[in-house]
Amino acid sequence: MRKLTCGAGIALALALAPAYAQKSIYADYQRMTAENAPTELYELAGEELWKKKQGPKNASLESCDLGQGPGVLKGAYAALPRYFADAGRVMDLETRLLHCMMTLQGRSREEATKRVFGNADRASEFEALSAYVARESNGMKIAAGRSHPKEQESYELGRELFYHRAGPWDFSCASCHGEEGKRIRMSDLPKLDDPKYVRPLMATWPAYRVSTSKIVTLQWRMNDCYRQMRMPEPAFGSDVTVALIHFMTVTSEGETYRGPAIKR
Ligand code: HEC
Repeated sequence: MRKLTCGAGIALALALAPAYAQKSIYADYQRMTAENAPTELYELAGEELWKKKQGPKNASLESCDLGQGPGVLKGAYAALPRYFADAGRVMDLETRLLHCMMTLQGRSREEATKRVFGNADRASEFEALSAYVARESNGMKIAAGRSHPKEQESYELGRELFYHRAGPWDFSCASCHGEEGKRIRMSDLPKLDDPKYVRPLMATWPAYRVSTSKIVTLQWRMNDCYRQMRMPEPAFGSDVTVALIHFMTVTSEGETYRGPAIKR
């Protein structure tokens, strides 16, 4: 795919450095950076990838069904995660994209997931595609699936996992995200089981992360939080990651989607 260099992001971060020194940093920082978010670059790269013929079947993803019908992008992201009968499971955006790469393009899971998280120099396919697809839900209400029994199961699993303590430090998600006012250094630790806090956050994924000059997705976020818990790395698109994303998205129901956006 096309190489994305994000000098713009670095310049932006440097220009904003003084904001860190002031009070009410995060609100100011978000407001200022949002105006200059380089997310559009990723959306364009994602569009290219969506239309690019790839894999043994030399096919594009243009007929991928993200839940609203083959090739329909409008509103698709706002309605995910949801149950897909053709796969027999609940999927979030990235999991569904992988499914389409495998079924439409004939790619193997191993090949398609070789590089799921990119870096500051080059976004991964999933990151660019996520930005492109999510953009088409901007301004729409978040409404993840919750009526199918498998959707209820996935939500319940996500909720249980959120409070389930495990790993060498006996941490759950709630250890860091279960109380108001917690923080690690510069980072506020949002209370993610509370609609008041989680709604504005879920409304802004995927996002350009200024501190690392790269675009990040929710699958990346789940990985990074499991890493912070000293837990084994979860499999990309596993039921565990999808369930956690599902739980937080259902908790954000009704919020207007405003991404792809910008994060710290
Ligand atoms: C050891 C503490 C810790 C644990 C445990 C933890 N996280 Fe996090 N989480 C963080 C930190 C630090 C951030 C980054 C905050 C920032 O970037 O400002 C974060 C950010 C997040 C965000 C992004 C919020 C936003 O800005 O949109 C989500 C979502 C999230 N965590 C979910 C989870 C889930 C789900 C779990 C359990 C699987 C979990 N976290 C476990 C520390 C933790």
